[in-house]
Amino acid sequence: MSITLPATGLAVVAHGKGDLRVEEIPLTAPAPNESIVEIAYGGICGSDLHYWLHGAAGESILKEPMVLGHEIVGVVVRQAADGSGPGVGTAVAVHPATPAPGDVRYPEDRPNLSPGCTYLGSAARHPHTDGAFSRYANLPSRMLRQLPESLELRTAALVEPASVAWHAVGRAGDVKGKTALVIGSGPIGALAVAVLKRAGAARIVAVDMHDKPLEIARAVGADQVLKGDDAEAIAAVDADVVIESSGSHFGLASAIKGATRGGKVVMVGLLPSGPQPVFISLAITRELELLGSFRFNDEIDDVIAALADGSLFVDPVVTHEFNLSHGLEAFEVARNSAESGKVLLNFQQ
Ligand SMILES: NC(=O)c1ccc[n+]([C@@H]2O[C@H](COP(=O)([O-])OP(=O)(O)OC[C@H]3O[C@@H](n4cnc5c(N)ncnc54)[C@H](O)[C@@H]3O)[C@@H](O)[C@H]2O)c1
Ligand SMILES: [Zn+2]
Repeated sequence: MSITLPATGLAVVAHGKGDLRVEEIPLTAPAPNESIVEIAYGGICGSDLHYWLHGAAGESILKEPMVLGHEIVGVVVRQAADGSGPGVGTAVAVHPATPAPGDVRYPEDRPNLSPGCTYLGSAARHPHTDGAFSRYANLPSRMLRQLPESLELRTAALVEPASVAWHAVGRAGDVKGKTALVIGSGPIGALAVAVLKRAGAARIVAVDMHDKPLEIARAVGADQVLKGDDAEAIAAVDADVVIESSGSHFGLASAIKGATRGGKVVMVGLLPSGPQPVFISLAITRELELLGSFRFNDEIDDVIAALADGSLFVDPVVTHEFNLSHGLEAFEVARNSAESGKVLLNFQQ
């Protein structure tokens, strides 16, 4: 059984630099392999903010209006016509990536590295890949992950960024019993703290420039917090594993300083393209392992299971929720990382 859908639905559309609109968009017919998902919540991510504020996220430049949003959860209201994917009424999280094998070599078991990979709400390709900050979204069955009944949709809204954090921690290998340092305690850093805690890190130190992110980091499991970039205090942490989640070269410098000899530094914060001024020489003489971390693969299934069984605790990361009608206000709050953690849009009316 499926409900009768309206002809249009409200969506958050980036039209260009500084031009973000909450507007009605037409509902298009889904492809045979696509389900229609009624979106419940959407988390605002740094890339959404970049498209709004700069008309670009890194190298991805907005050339036409694009629906934003890749951190979404909802309920299937029409199953894919080809019978694939979950049935009507199923609550789902969404894996936003579509890997695209091409002629460039990459490790096959790491589709996140496929060079032509598209992502919901990304202007990396032309035409752009619309996101799903919309009342209804047509999504291919393979993106949909059924949510256990015990998992509330509001908590599940963190599945995507938590998967980014899970993948980043996973890059460091076994962290059980280790000392971990997290540089930058925004949503990604705070979620990394939560993942480290669950994975059995013995001591977790979180760093940020502001009080609010540090409060959140403590609430999800940091044993100690450090405010600012006091090089001596950071070096004294002497961490086996460092997660760089500030996305600034200052943060990366702190990450390198805070790593113990032979330690691992996972770089998940995205730096601007081009040369970065970082004290890299320490990485040589201390034999640090510098590891990149980009998006995630099947970790999303582990994250859903861990959220559902309560072993991964992330609730404090969400600090604000706005109805879609106040979408622009939500973006204003989200851009102020001194005051907000993850800001959710509520699409339910
Ligand atoms: N690699 C990936 O796949 C991936 C995926 C999602 C997000 N990201 C990136 O991860 C980073 C974090 O994302 P977020 O949503 O938490 O962003 P955010 O901007 O909300 O958080 C960054 C935090 O770092 C803090 N910070 C800035 N400079 C610092 C410094 N020198 N030392 C310590 N803290 C500092 C800020 O105060 C802020 O709280 C961003 O760069 C984002 O683009 C990467
Ligand atoms: Zn995101």
